[in-house]
Amino acid sequence: MNLHKLIFNTYFGGVSLLGLSIFFFHLLKFDFNLIYLYILWTAIFVIIELRPVSLDVKGQVSLAFALILAILMIYGTSFSIIVSAVGTALADIIGKRGWQKVIFNSSQYSISLLAAGTVYEKFISASVQFNVIDEHILPFIFAATTIVVINFLLVAIIVSLSYRMPLLDVIKMDVGMIALFLVSLAPMSLLMAILYTNKPWSIILILPPLALAHNGFENYLKLRKQTRSTMELLADAVDKRDPYTASHSARVAGYAQKIAKEMGLPYQQIEDISMAGRVHDLGKIGVKDFILQKNGRLTEEEYKEMQSHPQTGYNILSPLKMYKDVLLFVLYHHERIDGKGYPYGLDAKRIPLGARILAVADCFDAMTTDRPYRKAMSAEEAFKELINNSGSQFDPGVVQAFIRIWEKEQQQQYGES
Ligand SMILES: [Fe+2]
Repeated sequence: MNLHKLIFNTYFGGVSLLGLSIFFFHLLKFDFNLIYLYILWTAIFVIIELRPVSLDVKGQVSLAFALILAILMIYGTSFSIIVSAVGTALADIIGKRGWQKVIFNSSQYSISLLAAGTVYEKFISASVQFNVIDEHILPFIFAATTIVVINFLLVAIIVSLSYRMPLLDVIKMDVGMIALFLVSLAPMSLLMAILYTNKPWSIILILPPLALAHNGFENYLKLRKQTRSTMELLADAVDKRDPYTASHSARVAGYAQKIAKEMGLPYQQIEDISMAGRVHDLGKIGVKDFILQKNGRLTEEEYKEMQSHPQTGYNILSPLKMYKDVLLFVLYHHERIDGKGYPYGLDAKRIPLGARILAVADCFDAMTTDRPYRKAMSAEEAFKELINNSGSQFDPGVVQAFIRIWEKEQQQQYGES
């Protein structure tokens, strides 16, 4: 067994053992007088858990989080652990999600609920009724944060191990969405608990807005994914049209992504920059074939037409409001930091960093590939060019970051051979 598999199995086994121990310990506290309530809440939990919302890459969130937080406040830790562990297991079995998921999901709910319940009970005495809302607000915020953070970390580690991705990358990927989820849903849990304590049946009132929130969230993420695939298809169409730039945009996206990462940008921005790399020359759709593929010098008029491609690309993509940063990177990818670029001749401060990164990645790829009018340069020569034009055409910080990446890759290659 290799080391990676050993770490994975140890982590999976550890979380499962801890979670199942917590579950069985609390199962001993099962209150038979409340059996109908257990069944009712577990059934509601299963229904909600069966429709999770998929996050950006591998994670999922479900509205069950809002429900279980309310249950924790109304019935206490043991009750909420039993309902969530059994509910999750049932949902995973019905949804045929595999035994590993059944065990892991139930376990991570048990662990995070025990932590959240402990935090909650530490700050509040059991005798305080829920109609004294003031005294519940802070403990509630602590408990809600605890459950989300622990839940998120437990899942992020397993995703990182399963997909061999650095843990920090997994965290950065979904942390924004999780925060949004917490802020938008946690108040609903509090409202549910308040309504239920005053008049149990009134909890029905919260279900329609909860369902609406779920659908809205789901549609938003679906739309993001669809928009993304549309952009990728458009990018491929451009690459296929011009044999000399075939896969050019994919390589530019790759370089730009590495540079953005090296510069320590947030995950979402790295993704946007990479996406912009894929579609940066989309506007060439509006440039005539003979100009694109011309061997000799372009006439002034032809050059003007060529220079229109960032604006055309921007115009084509402009309905995709969800990716407004990507649109700006496309529009400004031929701007120069000395203000002599096109289409607007913006000065350095006004060119978004994403566009400055694209400019470097784009020129590097253009220099290192064969063109109709010249042979490809070597990477060393191309880097020399980037350095020579650093501070006039290119952002020096971006060029430096690119050089660091190249040096690291050289060292790795050298080290391996
Ligand atoms: Fe371009």
